[in-house]
Amino acid sequence: MFRNFYDLHICPHMIDFFMNMKIIKKQRLKVIPNAKGKVLEIGIGSGSNLDFYNRNKVSKIYALDPHPKFEEMTKIKAKKLGIEIEFFPVMADKIPLEDSFFDTIVCTYTLCSIENPIKALKEIKRVLSPSGQYIFSEHGLAPEENVVRWQNRLNPIQNLIGGGCNLNRDIPTLIEESGYKIEDLNKGYIPGPKFISYHYWGHSVPV
Ligand SMILES: C[S@@+](CC[C@H](N)C(=O)[O-])C[C@H]1O[C@@H](n2cnc3c(N)ncnc32)[C@H](O)[C@@H]1O
Repeated sequence: MFRNFYDLHICPHMIDFFMNMKIIKKQRLKVIPNAKGKVLEIGIGSGSNLDFYNRNKVSKIYALDPHPKFEEMTKIKAKKLGIEIEFFPVMADKIPLEDSFFDTIVCTYTLCSIENPIKALKEIKRVLSPSGQYIFSEHGLAPEENVVRWQNRLNPIQNLIGGGCNLNRDIPTLIEESGYKIEDLNKGYIPGPKFISYHYWGHSVPV
């Protein structure tokens, strides 16, 4: 997964830069304040969502990310904000917690990078309460054929320089095929190059 010096030391800073752009923060603001109760953030990265939680609604934030640099960056950010988080340095495919533990799962800009997203989404569903919600914001497969052609062409390069990120994942289909019902689905381009700016955001519930 972390193949070399670039993946370990340079890529996390690049991701942190892009993940904190104004247009991405705008997306976060649309979904993160809806998190409540016990929250698990999947692939938390550098902790960019931490600014956007409604602390009156959230009882505790748990986070997982297998990348050591992101663990370090998230812990620094949480400390700065005075937020207590419990961190697990693991992949989403095997979460070391009991069934139905969480009220909210947050997953933003991470389904593109998880090697086996369906396996991970099923494991995430296991730890989500039957009355809980899965909140997401992701870039993914565009609706137009000509854009998809570019997404497919550029995917190997993006994969290499973007920490395993894929441009062409059909986010709603992945979520639904993993046993969730999407209750609120928003989609559309945000400002930026078309091959990476088609977005899906909203929330789903386990079925
Ligand atoms: C583009 S970053 C997004 C970070 C963060 N979610 C955000 O919104 O800024 C993708 C994240 O997915 C994490 N990741 C990659 N594979 C993963 C896996 N199998 N399970 C959990 N996280 C994973 C990476 O370490 C990285 O932190």
